[in-house]
Amino acid sequence: MRRLNQALKRENFDRPPVWFMRQAGRYHSHYQAIKREHSFMEMCKSPTLAAKVAMGPIQDFDFDAAILFSDLLFPLEALGMGLEYSPGPKLGFHLQSPADLERLVPDDPRSLARQAIGFQKEAVILTRQQLPTDKALIGFVGAPLTLFFYAVAGSHQKADSARFDDTFTALTDGRWSGFLKRVLPLLEENMALQAEGGVDSIALFDTCAGELSPELYKEFVIPSLSELCQRHARRFPDVPIVYYSRGTNPEYFRLLHSLPSDVFPVAALGIDWRNTLSDCLREFGDRFAIQGNLDPYSLLKPWDELKLEATDLWNSVLELPAPLRAAWICGLGHGVLPQVPEENVRNLVQMQREMFL
Ligand code: CP3
Repeated sequence: MRRLNQALKRENFDRPPVWFMRQAGRYHSHYQAIKREHSFMEMCKSPTLAAKVAMGPIQDFDFDAAILFSDLLFPLEALGMGLEYSPGPKLGFHLQSPADLERLVPDDPRSLARQAIGFQKEAVILTRQQLPTDKALIGFVGAPLTLFFYAVAGSHQKADSARFDDTFTALTDGRWSGFLKRVLPLLEENMALQAEGGVDSIALFDTCAGELSPELYKEFVIPSLSELCQRHARRFPDVPIVYYSRGTNPEYFRLLHSLPSDVFPVAALGIDWRNTLSDCLREFGDRFAIQGNLDPYSLLKPWDELKLEATDLWNSVLELPAPLRAAWICGLGHGVLPQVPEENVRNLVQMQREMFL
């Protein structure tokens, strides 16, 4: 069995699987070469190109899993919000008031997903065909809150005190509930497309989760996650979900950990680099596989320094009892940054193989 799938069951007694979020991206010469010929949008929407981009880091660095090459904002494009990359994502309009919900296209989610996001299924099929059988293929979608932040504000980077009021207003004035009504069935269908194409698991990226306090997260976010994951699990019980959240900590993870697995059918938590990995494995590893969490900024450092940091972090896992180690997926606390030297990625994957023989 593929080692990532084994780890998602918390039963991997062999070398832990390793893959990085944004492993196919601008830091990589393979990506850059394709980007010189094609726009990012073309790379996502042409299944042939998407498969080629996704395969780059497998061929070059020998990661244990490929990730679908795509982006998480396509459901917003499907809903009629208009999407461009110039080079960062730009939407045609934002949900500035509840009335803007009327501007979203009213189609049935199933046909909408198939017609507007169907290219992801093709990309998954082609990537799977090119991938060695021992490597896993990961699909992904954006978590509802993260998509909501993009739909409302175009990003989540302007977090200041004024934004809190904004966020709270957006969550309570009808925009959040109206958005969920539209986006949850669409995300369910989006996940179904990837599952039908043959992904082994699906990552749910909640990059904006930590913008909310644990109280607001509990009240507004967890019910939407729980609903989405249940809808998916009913249809594809054999395609587990990895929930990555950024800016969160054990206070948030405890809320998730307290939910029975039928209420929150998620196999793994991806944790950001500000958490202590071994503590999270100890506290949550009885219920979730844990993925992470090398600091993405450390990959900008000279190899000697990066090597020391990775050695320390990975030793903290090696020292754990075998059943906890069996639940670890080696990765970063967020995505690979564009300025990262490719050699650092190559060395890290190589070093992981040597350390966990
Ligand atoms: O290799 C992989 O991990 C798969 C590809 C992937 C991309 N986006 C490609 C991409 C994945 C998994 C994503 C997820 C994604 N997209 C997230 C969640 C994860 C995270 O990074 O927090 C978010 C928030 C987005 C939305 C998005 N797409 C942003 C904010 C940006 C611009 C920021 C940036 O890094 O340039 C994009 C564009 C994007 N998505 C690029 C890539 C390779 C860069 C495109 C380019 O200019 O070449």
